[in-house]
Amino acid sequence: MNLKERYVADAHRYDDFDRMYQRCGKSGVLLPKISLGFWHNFGGVDPYERSRAITHYAFDHGITHFDLANNYGPPYGTAEETMGRLMQDDFKPYRDELFISSKAGYDMWEGPYGNWGSRKYLMASLDQSLKRMNLDYVDLFYSHRYDPETPLEETLQALVDIVRAGKALYVGISRWPLEALKFADKYLKERDVPLLIYQGRLNLLDRAPQEEGILDYCAENGIGFISFSPLAQGLLTDKYLKEIPAGSRMSRESSLTSDRLTPELRENLLQLNAKAAERGESLAQMSLAWVLAQKGVTSVLVGASSVAQLERNMKCVDSKPF
Ligand SMILES: NC(=O)c1ccc[n+]([C@@H]2O[C@H](COP(=O)([O-])OP(=O)(O)OC[C@H]3O[C@@H](n4cnc5c(N)ncnc54)[C@H](OP(=O)(O)O)[C@@H]3O)[C@@H](O)[C@H]2O)c1
Repeated sequence: MNLKERYVADAHRYDDFDRMYQRCGKSGVLLPKISLGFWHNFGGVDPYERSRAITHYAFDHGITHFDLANNYGPPYGTAEETMGRLMQDDFKPYRDELFISSKAGYDMWEGPYGNWGSRKYLMASLDQSLKRMNLDYVDLFYSHRYDPETPLEETLQALVDIVRAGKALYVGISRWPLEALKFADKYLKERDVPLLIYQGRLNLLDRAPQEEGILDYCAENGIGFISFSPLAQGLLTDKYLKEIPAGSRMSRESSLTSDRLTPELRENLLQLNAKAAERGESLAQMSLAWVLAQKGVTSVLVGASSVAQLERNMKCVDSKPF
């Protein structure tokens, strides 16, 4: 398709409805089993037409959930600007078919009010995010991380008030420890703004949310769970089995550094790859399917630097049972 043409979404995008969507906890929201994250590949440094093609492919195949945060880029804020441009260029007619999230919690602007969990930061940050994304509201707004210094009541009340002000429809938390999750669940329920979802890192190399009891708590209390970095930033693909390819995330030595790729890890990846081959699947496909098979998981939140990667990864919905 010539991307200069007006984008018209594929008429068959919901053909696989029953296989593609899962209920998010005990809520009215269905999320696609595969969601698309904008952490990498959608910033000001990335080619817009490539980012655009990835989102078209995603939406054309039923991926209705795009996940952002204030500081995704680089530079910070530019992934949301890309989303804003996409809204303008392509997705405005489909706004009600999209579930768009953003977050605040990490460093965003200078000074004492551009980081962590204060009401001052969360409120201002969401206003900025909405402007960058050309949106009146986000579907989901997260506290991006637990802040041990700010009273939890302050952070959570800001989330409640954001919903009451119509700037977000639902709220979520990311990377909060179990005890804080329990507190948030109770606090938000009592104010009729139930916690929709918890975002945490769960993959074949990192099972912390299971080991810490977060997944069980979510499953037992009607809270959805979405797994970020389900491919461990690309480690759980065939990409790094032999070398570190030029242009890969690891070759850029930023969020994924080459010191992670120890001989032990490489051996572990080779064994997982062999297991995937026995199943007739790629390592990426098996890894995503494994996350989706865990009790309480609503969706895997993948990243992609090309349409081809997303296309390959979507095969996880056809995987064999474990
Ligand atoms: N809440 C949080 O604190 C938090 C933290 C991290 C992420 N997140 C969210 O989770 C989303 C996903 O995170 P992630 O990007 O780390 O996810 P991921 O799916 O684990 O890794 C995605 C990367 O792996 C590589 N890849 C993907 N499919 C591949 C394939 N089939 N073959 C070879 N390489 C493949 C690509 O990197 P290359 O560039 O090497 O091609 C791609 O950008 C983020 O965008 C963000 O929305 C949230």
